[in-house]
Amino acid sequence: MSVAIDCEKLDIGYRNADTDITVVSGLDLTVTAGEFLTILGPSGCGKSTLLRVVADLLEPLSGSIAVLGTSPRQARMTRQIGFVFQDSTLLPWRSVRQNIELPAVVGGANKRVVSTEKTDALLVMLGLEGLGDRFPSQLSGGQRQRVAIARALIEEPKLLLMDEPFGALDEITRDRLNSELLSIWRRTGTTILFVTHSIMEAVYLGERVMVMASNPGRVLSITDLRDAKNADNSCSREDPKIISAMAEMRVALEAAS
Ligand SMILES: Nc1ncnc2c1ncn2[C@@H]1O[C@H](COP(=O)(O)OP(=O)(O)OP(=O)(O)O)[C@@H](O)[C@H]1O
Ligand SMILES: [Mg+2]
Repeated sequence: MSVAIDCEKLDIGYRNADTDITVVSGLDLTVTAGEFLTILGPSGCGKSTLLRVVADLLEPLSGSIAVLGTSPRQARMTRQIGFVFQDSTLLPWRSVRQNIELPAVVGGANKRVVSTEKTDALLVMLGLEGLGDRFPSQLSGGQRQRVAIARALIEEPKLLLMDEPFGALDEITRDRLNSELLSIWRRTGTTILFVTHSIMEAVYLGERVMVMASNPGRVLSITDLRDAKNADNSCSREDPKIISAMAEMRVALEAAS
């Protein structure tokens, strides 16, 4: 079983001129390759900070972290990490197709050639057929999020980091994107770390759910849902096991805030 992320005694936070602001200290976490891990926790507990450290957008204060068997820097440089933010920023002057192909175009020394077929396949996968020549201003919020996901997938990342990607969407669109994301995950075998404030979303998507607490930021619990779900990680929201897992999460979150 290979390991996608391995953190030991990791301290993360922000470095100021005079003092360090530690957000989470002593984090131990192992994520298996191919796993779907969802992360819940009160605002300010360090969820985004953790994703930033994994993505090499922020250096850890101390401790060790390995990503895909190497350093976060190396994993990022070899373009193995995809990132989707809450309010994904597409470039307004580029079409949908050009936005999706952006990571490959700006790749510098590690630049890859993207085939039209690959972009076409992603447009289909994310239900964006026929929208490739539109501009971001001509899309709905849900469509823009799909473009952001396609852009994160274009380089076939081994690790996909998603920070509240569907937070701003209506419930129906969000449910639809959740089930699309699960089927993409099944097809690609990508490891996914997914931050959300929705207990339902965390339980529906995750094989394991990590609950973080604040003051100080830390991991409160990690719940393995694999026994409560089907072999393909699908589940019914009405299943008593799922309902009780959600109730457990709620208690943990109340303790965390
Ligand atoms: N650039 C920064 N410099 C200093 N402190 C920061 C910086 N960015 C974030 N913080 C602080 O770090 C802590 C964790 O922030 P983070 O964004 O990781 O929280 P979060 O769990 O993602 O919260 P939310 O659910 O609101 O997105 C917060 O107290 C925040 O104020
Ligand atoms: Mg955040």
